[in-house]
Amino acid sequence: MKTIFSGIQPSGIITLGNYLGALKQFVELQQDYRCYFCIVNQHAITVPQEPAQLRQNIRRLAALYLAAGLDPQQVTLFVQSEVPAHAKLGWIMMCTAYVGELERMTQYKDKSQGRGEAIPGGLLVYPPLMTADILLYDTDFVPVGDDQKQHLELTRDLAERFNRRYGPLFQVPEIRIPRSGARIMSLQEPTKKMSKSDPNPGGYIGLLDEPDTIVKKIKRAQTDSDNIIRYDREQKPGISNLLSIYSSLSGKALEQIEQEYSGKGYGSLKSDLAELVVQALAPLQQRYHELIDSQELDQILDQGAARANEAANRKLLEVEQVMGLSRKSF
Ligand code: TYM
Repeated sequence: MKTIFSGIQPSGIITLGNYLGALKQFVELQQDYRCYFCIVNQHAITVPQEPAQLRQNIRRLAALYLAAGLDPQQVTLFVQSEVPAHAKLGWIMMCTAYVGELERMTQYKDKSQGRGEAIPGGLLVYPPLMTADILLYDTDFVPVGDDQKQHLELTRDLAERFNRRYGPLFQVPEIRIPRSGARIMSLQEPTKKMSKSDPNPGGYIGLLDEPDTIVKKIKRAQTDSDNIIRYDREQKPGISNLLSIYSSLSGKALEQIEQEYSGKGYGSLKSDLAELVVQALAPLQQRYHELIDSQELDQILDQGAARANEAANRKLLEVEQVMGLSRKSF
């Protein structure tokens, strides 16, 4: 059985972008792969987090993973900081990476902007920690949204660099991007990705948004004035984004949706889409509320950490032996 690893940061409200780009694929893949899904809380602290909020966000994200349909019997769901091998291999990967390649990461450039001297070091060395997350589990595939492509390419480079130096210890992972939903854009500025750190809540749909809020946000989504429903990311980013969401949730091809709405106005697309989103999120929201304060959630995370520690420690030991860090040889 091939192995899958992926992670989500507990750094704010989980959005429809996270769902369509990542979570939804996870649920679809869980039966056919050995899956590790991680709440990457150590990644979240690369920018300042309020402790009580972070603690709550970790729990919320765990409940959302399960509410989306992950089966804890099938998958290993765990919190990154509860598996210390991540930080340990992270350090080794930082020593493997070059500063130049880290400075070229677009996410680093974006997130460090406007911080002057006060750029946390963690922002720069974030990708090697992500590399460690993935390599610890001999991962074959990493399902993520489009924005993680560059980090995955770096992961492959670092794995190959390490393997050339010390022998073929790491599986070189492949990225897996969904056919639709890989890049959901902001509803207010459709040339920017939908992001949980967007200061304007009108730009994103939170997975826990109330039905009324979802309807309002979709109705107010930015479009254009030619009133023709056609997918064209360059010329019609707003409508194209709505069509992507529609396609991803309904499973229908973009062309089919275009045909169904030919001659109809934006209002009709928006109200059908709002209904589709509300319907898709309703069961998830219900399950979330059942889980969030349950002991079951803690048991699942404890069990997940135990399983992840076992696999990760095994790999870390091999790495430390082959590098000469360990007093015992490989
Ligand atoms: P994060 O927490 O920013 O996002 C989690 C997942 O959601 C996807 N995503 C999107 N997909 C489509 N449209 C969007 N607007 C959108 N916004 C986010 C992301 O691509 C991602 O799949 N660095 C990662 C977390 C991470 C990780 C890992 C992922 C840490 N270690 C190891 C995979 C493997 C991140 O910040 O994701």
